[in-house]
Amino acid sequence: MSLENQNILISGSSRGIGYEMAKYFAEICGSMVIVCSRHIENAKKVSEIINGKTYAIELDVTNTNNINYCIDDILKKFGKIDILINNAGYRFDKELWYKKFHEIEEDRFMEIINVDLMGSIRLSKAVITQMIKCENVNKNKRGGVIINISSTPALSGHFEGSPYTIAKSGVIGLTKHIAREYGIYNIRAYTLALGNISTDATYYSMDDKHKSRAQEETSLKRWGKPEEIAKIVSHLASDDFSYSTGNTIIIDGGTIMI
Ligand SMILES: NC(=O)c1ccc[n+]([C@@H]2O[C@H](COP(=O)([O-])OP(=O)(O)OC[C@H]3O[C@@H](n4cnc5c(N)ncnc54)[C@H](OP(=O)(O)O)[C@@H]3O)[C@@H](O)[C@H]2O)c1
Repeated sequence: MSLENQNILISGSSRGIGYEMAKYFAEICGSMVIVCSRHIENAKKVSEIINGKTYAIELDVTNTNNINYCIDDILKKFGKIDILINNAGYRFDKELWYKKFHEIEEDRFMEIINVDLMGSIRLSKAVITQMIKCENVNKNKRGGVIINISSTPALSGHFEGSPYTIAKSGVIGLTKHIAREYGIYNIRAYTLALGNISTDATYYSMDDKHKSRAQEETSLKRWGKPEEIAKIVSHLASDDFSYSTGNTIIIDGGTIMI
């Protein structure tokens, strides 16, 4: 599958990893990218910066009505969504991150789960509904690709950030379920378990001690770059990976090895 005629929806593409993926798909792969933010002016700004085919929408993954409205709008304009990247993630909240699991209030847990896990579930449901709308499943397998962004603590566990680990673990289950139930529709699904990738939310908000501690954990002795994630995602979404589905791909500079 060439990515040139593909319509790609990337949640949380106003900055960081989502932004780099949007830029890569639009500028290098020639895809049509739906750029999303909870604030339409941010999505539009990004859409203007990127030198390629883009469409800016206001999307909040915690709001099912908003999701349904956006999907209808995209389908009216472009007819189909071929690739969904569930990238939107709850902002890094230092206070919550360092709080002990047993001390975190239930509603604080739910805030993160509502974005990172439920947000991916909501968008996947809405997009799959249109991906499986095919006259004859066996003769005309249009299908699609869903890529869910998780994190290495979902595999290794961690001593901080329990709501994040738990939400990101659920995402791995979501991927496996989609792969199993919808493989018959030629829908493939993957999880990316990311290590430390330098974005404003991580590298640029940390002190030097934490930055170098994260770097030293890796085999490659450095942080990952958002562009490196964009390249991997573009391969996963292409036909290069046509006989692989449901898997978790770890991108962490060689920290967790399985
Ligand atoms: N950077 C890392 O080291 C790292 C490591 C492991 C996993 N990850 C995961 O990778 C993804 C991207 O990380 P990042 O570092 O690029 O984060 P980031 O810079 O904080 O970007 C997060 C994105 O999510 C969007 N977002 C937040 N809440 C949302 C909501 N309710 N509905 C829709 N969009 C929402 C934000 O958009 P608006 O604010 O414009 O709405 C923003 O574009 C996240 O899922 C994160 O957990 C990152």
